[in-house]
Amino acid sequence: EPESRLVAVSNRVGPLSDEGQAGGLVVGLSDALKRRGGLWFGWSGETSDEGTHSQERTEVEGNVAMTTIDLTEEELNGFYYDYANRSLWPLLHYRLDLAEFDRASDRIYRKVNHRFAVRLMPHLKENDLVWVHDYHFFYMGSELRQAGYNGRLGYFLHIPFCAPEVFSALPASHDIVRALLAYDVIGFQTDTDRRNFVGFCVRELGGRKLEDGRVEVGDRTVIAKAFPIGIDAESYSRFAVSPEASSHEEMLLDMSRDRRNLKGEEAERKLIVGVDRMDYSKGLLERFYGFERLLEDYPENRGCAIFLQVAPLSRSELDAYADLRSELERTAGHINGRFATLDWTPLQMMTRGFTRKALAGIYRAARVCLVTPLRDGMNLVAKEFVAAQDPEDPGVLVLSRFAGAHAELECGCIVVNPYNTDDVAGALQTALTMPLEERKRRWELMREAVFTGTAQHWCQSFLATLEAVGEAGAGSP
Ligand code: G6P
Repeated sequence: EPESRLVAVSNRVGPLSDEGQAGGLVVGLSDALKRRGGLWFGWSGETSDEGTHSQERTEVEGNVAMTTIDLTEEELNGFYYDYANRSLWPLLHYRLDLAEFDRASDRIYRKVNHRFAVRLMPHLKENDLVWVHDYHFFYMGSELRQAGYNGRLGYFLHIPFCAPEVFSALPASHDIVRALLAYDVIGFQTDTDRRNFVGFCVRELGGRKLEDGRVEVGDRTVIAKAFPIGIDAESYSRFAVSPEASSHEEMLLDMSRDRRNLKGEEAERKLIVGVDRMDYSKGLLERFYGFERLLEDYPENRGCAIFLQVAPLSRSELDAYADLRSELERTAGHINGRFATLDWTPLQMMTRGFTRKALAGIYRAARVCLVTPLRDGMNLVAKEFVAAQDPEDPGVLVLSRFAGAHAELECGCIVVNPYNTDDVAGALQTALTMPLEERKRRWELMREAVFTGTAQHWCQSFLATLEAVGEAGAGSP
């Protein structure tokens, strides 16, 4: 029996190549789609007067066709900026203090979901597997059903699903979860996210938890399950030894090699790196404070430890993001002003992006990767860092307990609570002084996890679950 065609839907589409720096969704999905092939449908990244009525564009790369349509200015603002990123994103990341709710954007968000469903319909064939992604398209499944699509329909949430008490603050919380029930399989990054979702179904909607990850609400039964996303670990580890990666690695090695601390003692390579979209969920300020505390409490690092934070700007039109940027710039300036010497700048933050290959080289040069989100669906930077390491001299991962990746990587990382500055500083010191043998031992364990839980594995196990759903839906035996 030939494989059914995969039709993936997400707000951002592509690129499949190594160009530019992307969010986790594009990284995981493009790594998975490259193997399997199929249609990838979503937003063009452009606005036009026609918006979701615009002529569609299709780009083909290998066995993947990427078809996109525009948004109008009004759709972009209401759907993407206001509802998705001013209401849903902060809410799902436990930041009710930053969440704003208004009915105008709620209306536009639903309308855009409707329009994307209408535009996708003519592309759908019998036996396709339709897989919708992320918090931009909560209503897409129910819209596709209303438009007459009867085939198998899956959904994956790339970001956390917050606790039911928090989610219920959203005015449309019931509508959204009811709409999600139109899908046959609903995937989450971690078991915590799945439990929160099922908890909401049970407590707020009078649903019932059944066997095998199924949940029943009224006459609907769906499968809710955790499918942790990964990267194409094989290719990524090859990226890490490409000429582009090596030139970046060399440059950083030159910068961090042969440093002496302020007492004139020779210091081992003490390069710490962080790579994140500039987002308040990433715990960047907390990370800066942790590094500052390292310099305060462990003065042997002065003059030689260098913290390089790559933080490409993201959603900068929103106040919360613009405010974060000023705060980070102020704090970085403060730390450098306080500790810098004529030949040493402790903290370097840059808002430019790098290709995935260049980043792989940067990871390889680092002794420590510092990943401290306050909440994160998965965090693929942690997995990329592991895949990029030199087996003979691997670096150490310091990872927040609030990142989804923590579940798979706690076997070898140093776990931190980003709200605890002393904990972050202590973890950095442990990581910077860790003997080679222990670094190797820890890295082996994480390597195993990253090479097992790959993007391909994520895709296959999700689609196998979706394919197993009979014509009659998840409720059938
Ligand atoms: C996260 C989300 C993605 C999103 C990415 C980048 O990883 O889960 O859906 O694409 O951030 O954010 P942006 O708003 O630029 O698409």
